Amino acid sequence: MSVNWNARFSTMARERLDSSFIAEMIKLVVENQAISFTAGEPSTELFPLEGLAASARNAFRNPDLFSYYPFDEGLLGLREWIVGWMRADGLLPEWVSAKNVFLTNGSQEGINLVTEALIDEGDLIALEDPTYPEAFLNFARQGARFVSAAVDKEGILPDSLEKVLRENRVKFLYTIVSFQNPRGCTAPTERRRQVLELCRKFDVVILEDDPYHYLRFEGDVPESYLRLAGDDARVLYLGSFSKIVAPGLRCGWVVAPPEIMSTLNHLRVSNVIGLPAFSQYILFDFLKDLDLAPYFEHLQKAYRTRRDALVAALERHVVPLGLSFDIPEGGFFLWGRIPGLNDMVRFARFAVETEKIGIIPGTIFFPTKGKGLDTIRFSFAKVTPEIAEEGALRLARALRTFTPGEA
Ligand SMILES: Cc1ncc(COP(=O)(O)O)c(C=O)c1O
Repeated sequence: MSVNWNARFSTMARERLDSSFIAEMIKLVVENQAISFTAGEPSTELFPLEGLAASARNAFRNPDLFSYYPFDEGLLGLREWIVGWMRADGLLPEWVSAKNVFLTNGSQEGINLVTEALIDEGDLIALEDPTYPEAFLNFARQGARFVSAAVDKEGILPDSLEKVLRENRVKFLYTIVSFQNPRGCTAPTERRRQVLELCRKFDVVILEDDPYHYLRFEGDVPESYLRLAGDDARVLYLGSFSKIVAPGLRCGWVVAPPEIMSTLNHLRVSNVIGLPAFSQYILFDFLKDLDLAPYFEHLQKAYRTRRDALVAALERHVVPLGLSFDIPEGGFFLWGRIPGLNDMVRFARFAVETEKIGIIPGTIFFPTKGKGLDTIRFSFAKVTPEIAEEGALRLARALRTFTPGEA
């Protein structure tokens, strides 16, 4: 071809884009027709399709939904519903109303808009180590650099965060507060208070990403950073319907103070001409009459059963080969380690190609290359008890036949 497109790429396209290993693994799973412990997405049979179909029919009675929708912040009814719901669950401080809720194309768009609103080239962002790669890949695109605080089973370690904030001037802290992706950990209220105090002390704002909040199987529900911060309003909160209704509807939201709302709006308008009000209406119409308690109990029960089955199957077949892991109180993920297996990326490719079992190597969740080389993330979201058993057997076989250090 005559045109050299590579020479014309922007700095961002040339230097700051990194491929998503999760996407690569999911592709390998499909190509190899493998069993998958990879997907951080809900099971299709748990989508409330009947209810959504009825709401979709209702949407067709509202022709205005098929015009350009006049509110760039998204469908007002859904924003009001979100406020009522979050308020009833004690997640909101007083100052939040529907004016502070901005609907997004999944919470990933919320991450992207916050990135564009706050990050300048060279800014330092504080992350949990490990964390959700699609967030730090997005921050990196804008030219961000990273400093990481260590986490344990109860989230960010305050001592580690204090050191990070003392030694660096950080733009914001990005934290996944409940059933963290990938580590499965949840910070109890006391830990959150400590983290918030540190952020106040060093005048750092918090990006609280909470897509797994309603997938709790056991334990207490801690207070959100958003609520704990109160009038201080130093928290931007990201919510999502992807894990609790269906990801294909592409609907999430940001809760933000007024001055951020107008910036999010300007960024949205300069980027896309609104989002489909149709999809937002379907969600609103479905949710507004829904009895939430039994709805969530059903989801929680299904995912608890899957977690328990995967835990039992791994304990039977893979723990004897050296795996250890933490058991999360909710969400989709188990986080494990196989000490001595330091090339998990190669093992993941080997396992999917030979034994047809997909897993995600934990190292990709660390922004600094070379960390967590012997770690592994399992998702139980789409894993029925039968698949858990067969998958664990395949993983054990792959471990027995894999030769570390060889191509
Ligand atoms: C921590 C976290 N944040 C954000 C997202 C993005 O979800 P969505 O854009 O579908 O709402 C995900 C999806 O896996 C996630 O795990």
